[in-house]
Amino acid sequence: GVLSAWGVGGGTLLLLVMTLVFGVDQTAAQGINLLYFLPTAAMGLIWHRQNGLLDKAVLRRTVPWALAAAAAASWAATALDVTLLRRPFGVAGVNKAEGTITMIYRIIGEATHILADVCSGDELSIVGPLGHGFDMSAKKPLLVGGGLGLAPLLFLAEGFGEGNTDILMGGRSAEELFWTKLYESLSKNIYLTTDDGSVGTKGTVMALLPQLLKEGGYDCVYVCGPVPMMRAVANACLEAGVKCQVSLEKYMACGLGACLSCACEGIGKRIKVCKDGPVFWAEEVGEW
Ligand code: FES
Repeated sequence: GVLSAWGVGGGTLLLLVMTLVFGVDQTAAQGINLLYFLPTAAMGLIWHRQNGLLDKAVLRRTVPWALAAAAAASWAATALDVTLLRRPFGVAGVNKAEGTITMIYRIIGEATHILADVCSGDELSIVGPLGHGFDMSAKKPLLVGGGLGLAPLLFLAEGFGEGNTDILMGGRSAEELFWTKLYESLSKNIYLTTDDGSVGTKGTVMALLPQLLKEGGYDCVYVCGPVPMMRAVANACLEAGVKCQVSLEKYMACGLGACLSCACEGIGKRIKVCKDGPVFWAEEVGEW
């Protein structure tokens, strides 16, 4: 997904955790917010954040969120105020039965602080889902992610169905890999690496990836995370002859292919991450 609004690291200030759907451990998930958007036919959206602090806020804009179910790792843009640019958020989950969409974000800058402070009755303007998601034709997919890149991969794992994906996730320390709790009911094998060796294999995901590519029988790798991770994983896959899809992150403004703020070099042409992506085949990307 498109995660530039969150970034990695920086100040995570609030403990706002949802517990009902994923049962996240509150300590481990510190600083991470999860949002649900509940559409109703007549009123547009009801916004509900399950952090124990807030109840519900009504949105007046009607958005066909059922469409969101079609595109893993597509992104939704939100703007809380006309003075703010829209911020891109990857889709971390969709519950068709409840008509909800989940976004996971780190409280790190002005917009996400404002988002964290939204109260009942406030209005949010939301555009989405935008762009297109992952190609899901793989028979044996390996997901590789780090940081907030693990949010859209969560939706992808759900899309493939329980037990049909393996995931390799990397982080700086065990604390950052609370994501295992979100993935344990979805993915079959969970491989972990940490920079400090506090859990899993010491090093980056590259400490495990070559071996997994060699022995795992994977026919496609899906990667989302920090740029150095995506570039290294894409190169390793190209070398190993395994297909690879990357979900790029770029700063975005319009989200509609008009402003070019998200444009980057593709192979033989300029690509707009918001419209042509955010998901690309690794060999389409010329600039990371
Ligand atoms: Fe404007 Fe992509 S955000 S063209």
